[in-house]
Amino acid sequence: MRVGVVGCGYWGSNHVRVLSAMPSVAEVVLIDARTERLESVGRNYPRSLRRASLTAALDDVDAVVVATQPDAHFEVAAEAIAAGKHVLVEKPMATTKADAEEMVRLATEAGVTLAAGHTFAYNAAVWKLTSIVQRGELGRLHYLDAARLNLGLYRDDVNVLWDLAAHDISITTALLRDVPDRISAWGSRHTSRFGEDVATMRMLFDRRQVESTVRVSWLDPLKVRRTTVVGSEKMAVYNDLDTDQRIKIFDRGRMQHADAPTSDPFSISYRYGDITSPHIEFGEPLRFELEDFLRCCSSGAVPVANGLAGLTVVAVLEASDASLRENGALVPLELPDLAATMIRAVA
Ligand SMILES: NC(=O)c1ccc[n+]([C@@H]2O[C@H](COP(=O)([O-])OP(=O)(O)OC[C@H]3O[C@@H](n4cnc5c(N)ncnc54)[C@H](O)[C@@H]3O)[C@@H](O)[C@H]2O)c1
Repeated sequence: MRVGVVGCGYWGSNHVRVLSAMPSVAEVVLIDARTERLESVGRNYPRSLRRASLTAALDDVDAVVVATQPDAHFEVAAEAIAAGKHVLVEKPMATTKADAEEMVRLATEAGVTLAAGHTFAYNAAVWKLTSIVQRGELGRLHYLDAARLNLGLYRDDVNVLWDLAAHDISITTALLRDVPDRISAWGSRHTSRFGEDVATMRMLFDRRQVESTVRVSWLDPLKVRRTTVVGSEKMAVYNDLDTDQRIKIFDRGRMQHADAPTSDPFSISYRYGDITSPHIEFGEPLRFELEDFLRCCSSGAVPVANGLAGLTVVAVLEASDASLRENGALVPLELPDLAATMIRAVA
């Protein structure tokens, strides 16, 4: 397989690094409109082909990774698909739901693989937490809370929800094996040139009677990458920055004694039990993501983070934009039935 990486910026250069170390990849073609990026990334891969555009690279590649800024994803992916190439498009897969739907339609008609760059769908800690949640170890779920904060990196083409919450939407749909029914979002713009740089999103999963809150910021002094899941029996915290103990399970909770009247203040007690941390065999998520993509290109199988998963994340983000414009009003998620069914089946 010869793979072209369109966009060799911050994240595209990671794709180049991982692909270059994969035995199934015969050639990695570096593609970027900026000559200085081709030169600086190309220094580590002196024998790699370099091209200034996808058009100029079409004869040299069988599959394409689209790691440009989000507002160029659709145009580049559509060109690749029209030329019969398999495509993996970074998150967010597109900047409108209509474009994401069209991308899925084009790939389906062309019979090529379409994958979304949802790195956390390939993260062993997310797999572990998903199995803990799905086995019912935490009891009945009360709520989920996620925070993804840091100083920067600001983007000029999408707001902070489209940049950062894309990850938390993907994690939450995996944990719950479901898509939200209603979304609300609110945020503020402080120092960004484009859109909100601090925002909160609330996703309501009506069928499950669970809600998930996601806080994202490009303007915070501390780096935080955390997902908390609170259940009736136990609570779990996934801290992606704690590489030794990414997941901790807290045997903690608040209990109402069954035989005591609810009016009795002494009928409530708090439980402070053990804190445990399961072993996680961790590998680089981007490697798993690219291995899955290339396997699916060869076999015709459907990637874990497929086009419909990409479309779902974009649809949630578009609903969040609508809610931002209406001061946080709840907006129903409108998704093709097929996408919701796939997410529940695959996640
Ligand atoms: N999955 C993840 O964990 C993760 C992490 C970071 C970024 N990303 C995503 O990766 C994408 C790229 O982000 P980044 O921070 O690397 O951006 P970046 O601005 O550093 O790099 C983008 C590069 O694309 C090039 N480019 C743009 N349009 C092009 C075109 N039509 N043809 C050729 N080259 C073109 C630019 O010259 C630039 O070098 C974004 O969609 C972002 O959301 C994903």
